[in-house]
Amino acid sequence: MGIRDRLAHVPATVIVGAQWGDEGKGKIVDLLAQDSDLVCRYQGGPNAGHTIVVDGETFKIRAVPSGIITGKACAIGAGCVVDPQVLIGELDDLESRGLRTAGLVFLSGNAHLIMPWHVALDGARERKLGNLQIGTTRRGIGPAYADKATRIGIRVQDLLDPKILRQKIELAITEKNVWLERVYEIAPFDLEEVAHTYESYAQRLRPYIADTSLLVDRALRNGDNVLFEGAQGTLLDLDHGTYPFVTSSSPIAAGAAVSFGIGPNRIDAVLGVSKAYVTRVGEGPFPSEIQGEDQECVRELGGEFGTVTGRERRCGWLDLPALRFAVRVNGITSLALTKIDVLSSFAEIPICVRYALPDGTETEDFPAHQSDFHHCRPVWEVLPGWQEEIVGNELPDAAAAYVRFVEDALGVPVSLVGIGQGREAVLTLP
Ligand code: GDP
Ligand code: IMO
Ligand code: MG
Repeated sequence: MGIRDRLAHVPATVIVGAQWGDEGKGKIVDLLAQDSDLVCRYQGGPNAGHTIVVDGETFKIRAVPSGIITGKACAIGAGCVVDPQVLIGELDDLESRGLRTAGLVFLSGNAHLIMPWHVALDGARERKLGNLQIGTTRRGIGPAYADKATRIGIRVQDLLDPKILRQKIELAITEKNVWLERVYEIAPFDLEEVAHTYESYAQRLRPYIADTSLLVDRALRNGDNVLFEGAQGTLLDLDHGTYPFVTSSSPIAAGAAVSFGIGPNRIDAVLGVSKAYVTRVGEGPFPSEIQGEDQECVRELGGEFGTVTGRERRCGWLDLPALRFAVRVNGITSLALTKIDVLSSFAEIPICVRYALPDGTETEDFPAHQSDFHHCRPVWEVLPGWQEEIVGNELPDAAAAYVRFVEDALGVPVSLVGIGQGREAVLTLP
């Protein structure tokens, strides 16, 4: 019996980050992909970094869905932004490690391309903001989504026609160079060079371009198991996250339906992925951030350094109001609680159960107003630690109690518990 059957058979499952990203989505997707037919990445771009460890071998992927490691068909949806250089590099790397991508990776023609000026603008804008910077990954994500919304973006399908591609590059570069030179005082791009580079990307990527909406629809009609893989996490969602310290797309589960052009009623289950604690990269409020040396301790034990940028991840204790919010806005039907092993050495483990607001009241719910969130204080409940290594198929009593505490507080079952980096290091709870 496969792991998906043990979890209850559902054809279309969304896997969504329930915190600020890096929850271990890649590992959980890789695990569930064993029993899936199609894995679909629905938003974001090379800002994502998913680490997957199989039989001691480590894969770090950013653009291709995590199902590729197990040789499953993988689709990149319209809601994604694609940096061709990164994608091609990743396809080459996977192929060089003996993993097939041709005929397995399907790239939506409606996805938008990250152009070199997007990367340049992202960096320049952050530099100019100084202390007020968002702390982006500087991969051109915000500027690429901005051009999409302004309707001057260049799409993957533009790679299919060299004439159209050149025209669109010419149109964009004229405007972008003015911004780069006059506003940010950095070097402009050369039309011939960019056109030549993107034409060579086009030749490589053309075979991968497909109608991913039709692909998913056919798979679901066929009764196939389809996984939708989110990047980033709920609190980085453009509409519902901690704006402006967010990414520029919709990581929440509904983003899967939008990206693949399927009705939301086609989605059967939403698996939220949360660490047993919390991390956040970049700027922005973080009520349950650990004060004192325990933060460093969790960072070291959890290896909390960014996959994409190598930056230190800020570490916090588990935040239940934020997780309750994730359950609400995603419609989470069950949770995967990863990295519980990282907490094994602590004698006591605080959990943020409520926020104390500036007006003196307390709330279990995520504040709707940014000022309340920026100024709230965590209210802790301290649970006993287990202080033993987690081995075998059973959680130590105190770890099981920790999991039950989370389930009871959220009213959602925890179906998977991560106890190590490797694919097998997961316990399935009844
Ligand atoms: P993603 O972006 O959500 O896919 O997460 P990342 O891959 O960026 O970060 C999660 C990190 O934790 C990776 O290094 C994983 O290999 C690792 N990881 C995932 N689950 C577990 C777990 O249960 N225990 C431990 N110790 N590490 C884990
Ligand atoms: P995965 O998929 C953690 C954060 C950045 C920054 C903000 C905006 O690995 O979970 P962006 O480059 O998207 O404009 O940056 O979002 N961020 C992530 N944090 N995990 C990620 O992806 C992230 N992708 C972006 O640090 O605070
Ligand atoms: Mg990550």
